[in-house]
Amino acid sequence: MNITGQHILSSSQFDLPLLDHLYRLADTLVPVARGQMTTAVLRGAVLGSIFFEPSTRTRLSFDTAFMRLGGSVSHTTGVEFSSIVKGESLEDTARVVGGYTDVLVVRHFEEEAIYSFASSTNIPVINGGNGAGEHPTQALLDLYTVRSEFKRLNKHVDGCRVAMVGDLRYGRTIHSLVRLLSLYRNLTFVMLSPKGLEIPRDFIDAARERGHELIETNDLNQGLAGCDLIYATRIQIERMSESEKAANKGVNFRIEKSILASVCRDDAIIMHPLPRDSRPGANDLSNDIDGDPRLAIFRQADAGIPVRMALFCMVLGVEDQVKDSLQPATWWRPEYIGPNDASFYRMR
Ligand code: CP
Repeated sequence: MNITGQHILSSSQFDLPLLDHLYRLADTLVPVARGQMTTAVLRGAVLGSIFFEPSTRTRLSFDTAFMRLGGSVSHTTGVEFSSIVKGESLEDTARVVGGYTDVLVVRHFEEEAIYSFASSTNIPVINGGNGAGEHPTQALLDLYTVRSEFKRLNKHVDGCRVAMVGDLRYGRTIHSLVRLLSLYRNLTFVMLSPKGLEIPRDFIDAARERGHELIETNDLNQGLAGCDLIYATRIQIERMSESEKAANKGVNFRIEKSILASVCRDDAIIMHPLPRDSRPGANDLSNDIDGDPRLAIFRQADAGIPVRMALFCMVLGVEDQVKDSLQPATWWRPEYIGPNDASFYRMR
């Protein structure tokens, strides 16, 4: 249960009691995440934020989570703006930045880089996405969202039917989330991907070993029918070889309004780690489903702040101070953040 001082590199480090503990703390921190309360449990602490791949959500939500806890952030983004272009090793970089900060969040395009960081400093290193490997904190906020949406719908994770859709081969969020969902019982996973982008075999084998049913298909209509959770992902063209890009040209893997209307359950939830590719012809969640109350993508992105705050509190050993530290915030905030939020929350 105690993860103070630990590196967070994989979702396989979590079990259900630890997740329950993390999510209880995240619930306590929701008013801080929403700007209704303040805390300063990390006053004086510094986060080192090292992003060697593009990011909007992960980088900004980690930064915001740390600052809402009273800490401050020191960054570098893009290899071209770091001294790695001068030939510095990842190990030297990690040791140096570890001397400046109290915890590191690292995103790198190579799967192994996160382990070089973790072995080179004794301050906690958190994996913000390692190539096509894992994205453990995305999976933590994804599962938090699933639990909260299912609670609203009076459903349970045990026994649910989940469609994982899109680029399951390179989709690191899928890899981390399958591991967390597999902690529950008797799920049916429908793995829906274009040919060549199937989930690596070891994830299928591990989930089956835990007693879950696994179905692999590339038929969207058939695969989405009857699912409680649809977790869509972007096709990661940037990770593909030229032959993979050519093979995926002309493939139609777009989830749009007509499919939702014809095959999806009325009480399904639709998630996506984002970014979704909204360019014409992209194989991703279509913008024509925006406003559908089943679409939980922005509630999901919002959950990134309380979940990452809770993780920082646990990793830095201040979780016991949170409750007594809360103070009301005094600045103005809108009641709802997005244009579709008011109708969703009033409908509940
Ligand atoms: N979900 C996610 O990792 O988004 P970013 O790439 O914007 O960080």
